[in-house]
Amino acid sequence: MHEELSTLKNQALAGLAEATDAGALEAWRIKYLSRKGGALSEAMKVLGGLPREERPAYGQAANEVKIALEAAFEERQEALKAAALAAELGGGALDVTLPGRPPALGRLHITTQSLRQIYAIYAEMGFQVYDAPDVETDDYNFGWLNIPPYHPARDMWETFWVTQATAGATTEGSPLLVMRTHTSPGQIRVMRERCPEPIRVILPGKCYRYEQVTARSEHQFYQLEGLAVGRGIRLTDLIGTLQQFARRMYGARRRLRVRGSYFPFTEPSIEADMDCILCGGKGCGVCKHTGWLEVAGAGMVHPIVLHNGGYDPDVYSGFAFGMGVERPAMLKYMINDIRYFYGNDLRFLGQFG
Ligand code: PHE
Repeated sequence: MHEELSTLKNQALAGLAEATDAGALEAWRIKYLSRKGGALSEAMKVLGGLPREERPAYGQAANEVKIALEAAFEERQEALKAAALAAELGGGALDVTLPGRPPALGRLHITTQSLRQIYAIYAEMGFQVYDAPDVETDDYNFGWLNIPPYHPARDMWETFWVTQATAGATTEGSPLLVMRTHTSPGQIRVMRERCPEPIRVILPGKCYRYEQVTARSEHQFYQLEGLAVGRGIRLTDLIGTLQQFARRMYGARRRLRVRGSYFPFTEPSIEADMDCILCGGKGCGVCKHTGWLEVAGAGMVHPIVLHNGGYDPDVYSGFAFGMGVERPAMLKYMINDIRYFYGNDLRFLGQFG
């Protein structure tokens, strides 16, 4: 009878010698020592079926086997751990002098960098930054800027219209909403807030147009609006401001040129160009062989717009301009595709700053 126990013990010890890793060791433990279904607890069950007088001896023997196997298991476990550690140390694969991997640091988006550069230049000229919303009513984006419904000038801005899908609400009677197509609606907001104080602000922000995306135009892009309102503000103040901007941004020798243009919210309206920063006016690929690069659309604030902002056009005058924000960065770094700005490709974004 005790023979069975010693066979079990020998078998178990032989199996243990063959376990060479943690997985095999655990499998062995379950097979022999597990309280449920382990070989040893099975052997203990025999006890009840034995004649009374044989029980104590059998029980004692089984217990001795159990203690022996548990000790052997622990010893084996220690030995395997020690061997693994020795292998790791002996391998010499761990070079503690290796420099650590630097954590990836975030940086400012190139558009943000461009914006901050522009803010700094206008701050020197006394302009404050004013924030206006991205989603506007039709009135702010068009109507109060002297672009009534069905005015042909609306075609200048391909528009994303916003449906008002608030649960349970009807759109009837509520104002038409648009994603602002330009930063000009902010003009009305500042004027209504500040009237009758004089104003000198810039309004940066994202604009949205329902347009084909190409290397030269995105359906979302930044604009920066400028607005000055007060007594005796003249076209020459506007031109001087834009010229100063071009020189601070692109170099002291930049020349500015002004062309007549049309915007419904300015009168007169102009387009300001500067001589090409690459060829200085001789003509090259960057300026499309014209020698000039567009800086801003601008003009004197239209009397109707002044009036809509609360200012009496007989007393006050003002100028406004709108310029691109990605464009200066594109010129500075010779980036020829605006789609990179919003493509979220870290290989591109990581190059700036
Ligand atoms: N809002 C005009 C545009 O998006 C630019 C502009 C701004 C023109 C202010 C004149 C005055 O094209």
